[in-house]
Amino acid sequence: MAKPPSFLWVITLFILPLKLTFSKPELVTTPPLPILPLPTYSQLKWQQREIIMFHHFGVNTFTDSEWGTGKENPAIFIPTGLNANQWVDTAVQAGVSLTILTAKHHDGFCLWPSKYTDHSVIGSPWKNGHGDVVQELVNAAKARGVDIGLYLSPWDRHDRRYGRNKEYNEYYLAQLQELLNNYGSVREIWFDGAKGSNAPNMSYYFNDWFSMVNELQSTINIFSDAGPGVRWVGNENGFAGSTCWSTINRTSLSIGNGSIVDYLNTGDPRGTDWLPAECDVSIRTGWFWHKTQSPKKLSKLLEIYYNSVGRNCVLLLNVPPNTTGLISETDVHRLKEFKGAIDTIFSTNLAEKCSIKASSQRGGKNGGFGPKNVIDNDHLWTYWAPNDEDKEDHWIELRATNEKLKFNVVRIQEAIGLGQRIKRHEIYVDGARVASGTTVGYKKLHRLEKGVLHGYSLKIKIMGSKGIPLISSVGLHFDPFWHPNELVA
Ligand SMILES: *[C@@H]1O[C@H](CO)[C@@H](O)[C@H](O)[C@H]1NC(C)=O
Ligand SMILES: *[C@@H]1O[C@H](CO)[C@@H](O)[C@H](O)[C@H]1NC(C)=O
Ligand SMILES: *[C@@H]1O[C@H](CO)[C@@H](O)[C@H](O)[C@H]1NC(C)=O
Ligand SMILES: *[C@@H]1O[C@H](CO)[C@@H](O)[C@H](O)[C@H]1NC(C)=O
Repeated sequence: MAKPPSFLWVITLFILPLKLTFSKPELVTTPPLPILPLPTYSQLKWQQREIIMFHHFGVNTFTDSEWGTGKENPAIFIPTGLNANQWVDTAVQAGVSLTILTAKHHDGFCLWPSKYTDHSVIGSPWKNGHGDVVQELVNAAKARGVDIGLYLSPWDRHDRRYGRNKEYNEYYLAQLQELLNNYGSVREIWFDGAKGSNAPNMSYYFNDWFSMVNELQSTINIFSDAGPGVRWVGNENGFAGSTCWSTINRTSLSIGNGSIVDYLNTGDPRGTDWLPAECDVSIRTGWFWHKTQSPKKLSKLLEIYYNSVGRNCVLLLNVPPNTTGLISETDVHRLKEFKGAIDTIFSTNLAEKCSIKASSQRGGKNGGFGPKNVIDNDHLWTYWAPNDEDKEDHWIELRATNEKLKFNVVRIQEAIGLGQRIKRHEIYVDGARVASGTTVGYKKLHRLEKGVLHGYSLKIKIMGSKGIPLISSVGLHFDPFWHPNELVA
C-alpha cells in the first residue's frame, strides 16, 4: 500500500480540528415578539397555582351566621382545639400552595391582636386573650412551604369610625400595615366591595391602600373587582365565562359595581391591562362553617374545576374551619377525593405517545419551535409556534402510533408569557368536529359533550388569534368521573 503524501496528514491532524473548533455555532431562532399586555412575575406565579384555598373563620363560626352584626361579644370566640397545622395539611393534601384567611370579616372582629381595636382575639378566652390566628396560620404554612394571603374586609360593622372617611381610612391603613409588616411574606391581599344596602356611606381610599400594599410587599397580588393584580370573576359559583380573557380595561372597572359582572366574567380581547380572573366559591353552601351544611359532591367540585381552572382562571376554594378550630373530617375527605380525581384524570397524557405535525413551524425543522414542545413538561416557555408568514390556517395534529386513542378531555395551553392570543379554535377527531371554543389562555379544558371518543387523530385548528398562536401544551385525557348524560346535582 502506498504511503499517503505527508501534507494530507498535516491537514488531518492540524487544520481539520482547527476548523471544527472555530466553526460558527449554529444560530438559534429568536422567540416571536410578545403581544401586550403581559402578566407580571407575580401574576404568572399565581396563575400556575391553579387551586388556592380560602378559610372563612371568625365570630360568625360561633353564631351560625354569614354576615355578623358587629355587636358580637369577642368572648364567644372559643376555638378550643384550633390547630392551623391541620388546615395547612388539608391544603397540601389538596395540592394547594396558597391559603387565604379572613383576618377580619364584615363584623369587624380581628383574628390577630390589632393595637387599634379591642374587638379581636384579645377579648376572647381562647389562650387567655393571647391567641393570634394569623400567626398560627403563618407558622403552620411556613413549616409546610405553603404561601399565605389575607382578607381584610373594607366594610366594618363594628368600628365606630366606619362612615367617617378620614378616620376609617386611617384605621384601615393602620391595620393593613400591621398585617403586611408583621407576618412575613404575604402573596395575596383580598379586597371586596360587599356591603349591606343600609350601611353608612363611605369612600374607601383605594389608591392609598394599593400603594401601601405594594410598598410593604414585593411579590403580592392585589385582588379586587378591579385588580390591580387579580380580578373577581363576577360571581360566587366558581364559574368563569366560556370566553375568558386575562385582559380587560381597568378604567371600565370599579369596586362594588354590580353592572360590570358580565365584563369581569369574560374579560376583554382588546383590554389594555393584564388582570386575570379568580373564581371564589365555597366547598359548602355558606362561606362560614354551619353544623347543618355539608361539602359539595365530587361531581360538583369537578364541574367547578373545569369551569374555572379549565377556563383560564385560578380556583379559590373556601374550606371553613368549625367551632373546634379544625376543618371537618367530611371536608378533608371530599378534598382528598377531589385531588385524587384530578390526579387520576391528568396524570396520563395520551398525547405523549402520539406523533405530532403542525401547519408550519417557526425557524424550520431545527428552529426550536416545533410541535413536540406541546408534550414536554414545560407549560409556559417551550411552545409550538407557526411561521410568522402564515397568517391563517394554523393547526396542530396528533396521531396515534398504533391503537386508537380513548379520551373525553382535551387540554390546550397557551404560552401566556408572550400574551394571550387565541380567539377561536376547533377540535377534530378523525376529521369530524367534536368541540369548538373561543379563548384558551393559560389552560383550556374541553370535557367533551359527546363523552368518550375513540380515534386515531386529533387536530386542533386555530380559527382566530391576535398574531400567531403559541401553544405550550396539549393533553388528551380520560376522565372516568365524566358522564355527560347524567345531570350534575
Ligand atoms: C349615602 O349618600 C347618598 C347620596 O349622597 C344618600 O342619598 C344616602 O341617603 C346616603 N346613605 C346613608 C346611609 O347615609
Ligand atoms: C359602574 O360601571 C359602569 C361601567 O363601567 C360605569 O358606567 C358606572 O359609572 C359605574 N358605577 C359606579 C358607581 O362606579
Ligand atoms: C378597551 O380599551 C381598548 C383600547 O383603548 C378599546 O379599543 C376597547 O374598545 C375597550 N373595551 C371596551 C369594552 O370599552
Ligand atoms: C370539627 O372537626 C374536627 C375534625 O373532623 C372534629 O373532630 C370536631 O368534632 C369538629 N367539631 C365540630 C363542632 O363539629
